[in-house]
Amino acid sequence: MASQGTSTSTSIWSKHQIFEKHSYWLMLGILVMISIGGLVEIAPLFYLKSTIEKVEGMRPYTPLELAGRNIYVREGCYNCHSQMIRPLRDEVERYGHYSLAAESMYDRPFQWGSKRTGPDLARVGGKYSDLWHLEHLNNPRAVVPASIMPSYPWLAQTRLNAKHIAEDLRVQQILGVPYTDEMIEKAQQDLKTQATSDADDADGLQKRYPKAQVRDFDANPGTITEADALIAYLQMLGTLVDFKLYDNKANVR
Ligand code: HEC
Repeated sequence: MASQGTSTSTSIWSKHQIFEKHSYWLMLGILVMISIGGLVEIAPLFYLKSTIEKVEGMRPYTPLELAGRNIYVREGCYNCHSQMIRPLRDEVERYGHYSLAAESMYDRPFQWGSKRTGPDLARVGGKYSDLWHLEHLNNPRAVVPASIMPSYPWLAQTRLNAKHIAEDLRVQQILGVPYTDEMIEKAQQDLKTQATSDADDADGLQKRYPKAQVRDFDANPGTITEADALIAYLQMLGTLVDFKLYDNKANVR
């Protein structure tokens, strides 16, 4: 019996010599082992429902907010601003509750960013007035004298091109954002409604998009400008989830 056991283990060792003597086999072996590890860790994230915990309050962006988000991406604001508050005490004390996965579930592409030349913007909504944003975008030095942020004076002077907003919603729908056909059909109208203070269908808009802020954002009621859209987007950031519901669960280290 003993001799049989020894002979089996020697044969395994002799097979293992392939890996020890040939670096290509070794590399292949390493690749196979790492792939198994990777698959076990990564694959479940794609079908486990708990990966992104459902959070009350999250909804798809209104057409105006989405248009503002497109301008945010176009202007490259993400090069200097992150939208992800990490669960560390200094961040939470400065910016507010740390970001939840669900808060960026409708962000395609995501705006977490990788550099903070300026502050994190995940909860900037409601921190300043619309007028502050208007002046800040036009010339940051007008409100923050030492600011190194570039000026974006054209935003308030450029009429928002919203011709393709329904298609934008449709693309997001294809990517998995739960826009309904009604939302897509009413996209043009909803966009106008949200940016106009004397809107007639504000109730319908707020039913489709709870907590949507309806007003003229750029102190220029005659025209819907790019500043209207961008400020509507900024004023929404971080305001959708009511963290009073979750505070007792907060676990800040
Ligand atoms: C070159 C880097 C840079 C770029 C690009 C940039 N910012 Fe900033 N931003 C800053 C800096 C630095 C500050 C802090 C000083 C200040 O308030 O102006 C700031 C501050 C802000 C604030 C105030 C945040 C707070 O909590 O006080 C907002 C809002 C903002 N930026 C929005 C934007 C938007 C929108 C864009 C794109 C149109 C943008 N920024 C592009 C650097 C940048």
